[in-house]
Amino acid sequence: MNKKVEVLPDHKALTARSLLLILSKVETAIQQQGRFTIALSGGSTPKPLYEAIATQKLPWEKIHVFWGDERYVTPDHPDSNQLMACRAWLDHVDIPWANIHPMPTSDTDPADAAAKYEQHLQEFFHSSPGEFPSIDVILLGMGDDAHTASLFPHTEALKVSDRLITVGNKDGNPRLTFTYPFINAASCVMFVVAGANKRPALDQVFAPVADEFTYPSRLIQPQGELWWLVDAAAGSDLQIQN
Ligand code: 6PG
Repeated sequence: MNKKVEVLPDHKALTARSLLLILSKVETAIQQQGRFTIALSGGSTPKPLYEAIATQKLPWEKIHVFWGDERYVTPDHPDSNQLMACRAWLDHVDIPWANIHPMPTSDTDPADAAAKYEQHLQEFFHSSPGEFPSIDVILLGMGDDAHTASLFPHTEALKVSDRLITVGNKDGNPRLTFTYPFINAASCVMFVVAGANKRPALDQVFAPVADEFTYPSRLIQPQGELWWLVDAAAGSDLQIQN
């Protein structure tokens, strides 16, 4: 694993740095494979980053957007990660609708929706059950409980290692989420974390020893690149060994 940690002065600088890294990955992926695949995180931290990406002149027809997790709500619900990303970015660029791959959230049973998204991913990446296709960039946030995607502490989703997609659980509310082995199969995983409220969790994630079920972001150990881009409020005292 190739792990890099950068502490940026504030959220604005964090967004600018994250944009530059993503743009470099877009260029490399399109040069090498003719397309770029990215999975988005939800929450509030990445919103300015999505707004910044929307200002870029990119070959949108070669870019495919997935989600790493989704609240189990309709796409017009204020909590929808898809809605946030569309309003901040995807509604403002000429990306073909076929290149946008939202997680389905209309099935009565979230487990059926998880299976549907898994099948969609397998068809897109031409992968077989049991294989973990490699997305070019997976964007991740981290909660103040050290969850990432919808892999919450002490939940069953943390034990799922034979599938791409599973059902997460936040306070009894279902979510769809990438599993940790699917995240770890990515070419590049980018955590983008901001805010003093994340500091205690970040300290535990970076501690030499701590329980992964209590601090699920510790499960993210990709074979490819792992970037932690954090603002000073969250990570000024991180021991950085780049
Ligand atoms: C979600 C996210 C989740 C998020 C963290 C951080 O659906 O909410 O995918 O994993 O990244 O909870 O959220 P904030 O950026 O709002 O702090």
